[in-house]
Amino acid sequence: MLAGLARTPRSVPPKFFYDAAGSALFDRICELPEYYPTRTELALLRARAGEIAACLGADAEIVEFGAGSSRKVRVLLEAMQRPRSFLPIDISAEHLHAAADALRADHPGLDVRPIAADFSRAIALPARHAQATRRVGFFPGSSIGNFSPDEAIAFLRRARETIDHDGCGAGLLIGVDRVKEPARLQAAYNDAAGVTAAFNLNLLVRANRELGANFALDGFAHHAYYEPRLQRVEMHLVSRRAQQVRVCGHVFDFAEGETLHTENSHKFTVDGFRALAQRAGWQPRAVWCDDQQLFSIHWLGLPG
Ligand code: TRP
Repeated sequence: MLAGLARTPRSVPPKFFYDAAGSALFDRICELPEYYPTRTELALLRARAGEIAACLGADAEIVEFGAGSSRKVRVLLEAMQRPRSFLPIDISAEHLHAAADALRADHPGLDVRPIAADFSRAIALPARHAQATRRVGFFPGSSIGNFSPDEAIAFLRRARETIDHDGCGAGLLIGVDRVKEPARLQAAYNDAAGVTAAFNLNLLVRANRELGANFALDGFAHHAYYEPRLQRVEMHLVSRRAQQVRVCGHVFDFAEGETLHTENSHKFTVDGFRALAQRAGWQPRAVWCDDQQLFSIHWLGLPG
């Protein structure tokens, strides 16, 4: 966090959004009328559950990156043949364990093994479940877009190694938001109710609580816009005035209008994402899209 604040322009890694309050706010974002990705992806998973489950295969172990409240995996679990185990990985431990308990209650036969970890780093998974014959990855929500293109490739490579470390990896199911008209994107990250603004500002609330910072919450404004050249929505917190902020004993001077870059959400064309996956050593095998061409779900396999 400190390193990011000291940089020009200032930026912070997105994982800091997801403390308990941030995860709860994110769940509210997913319900917003303007935020189409969650409901579009869920509807697509439901509509194509049979075909998707056939790709995932029988007796699989599912590894979910950034599981959150685990709503989407439920659609897969219901369509799959004998899913054996589920390893949700999430940085928000509290959220993760609550979701795991709820899932266990609804799927008594499923071995649910939550892993509280940062999926932007390498993660050593426990040995594959005794009855699972293949391991599949699940990475919904277009979280891949929150990485830079280089980080996205690094993540996809690492995910391949994680899933296939014992040679039983079968593939990765990944949800990817598509390039579309800027107005639609802009609205999705600037909701009328201000939940996205609260989510963005929660970063400062967290810094105040956990790092003893003294950010004035009324001193920063949420600013999100689509940057077509980079095919991404950029999220910033803009300083409303010239001000000094103390974080862990360090003093940072913000000019009026100076921004703290908090998040990017890259958007992809179907072909653009397939090319990226290929560069990371995956073989694009299937892709499903909604009628409005808003969102894509890709099934990536291991080459050969
Ligand atoms: N993965 C989500 C996305 O890129 C995360 C997200 C949604 C987000 N709204 C946000 C991140 C607002 C920061 C601020 O769509």
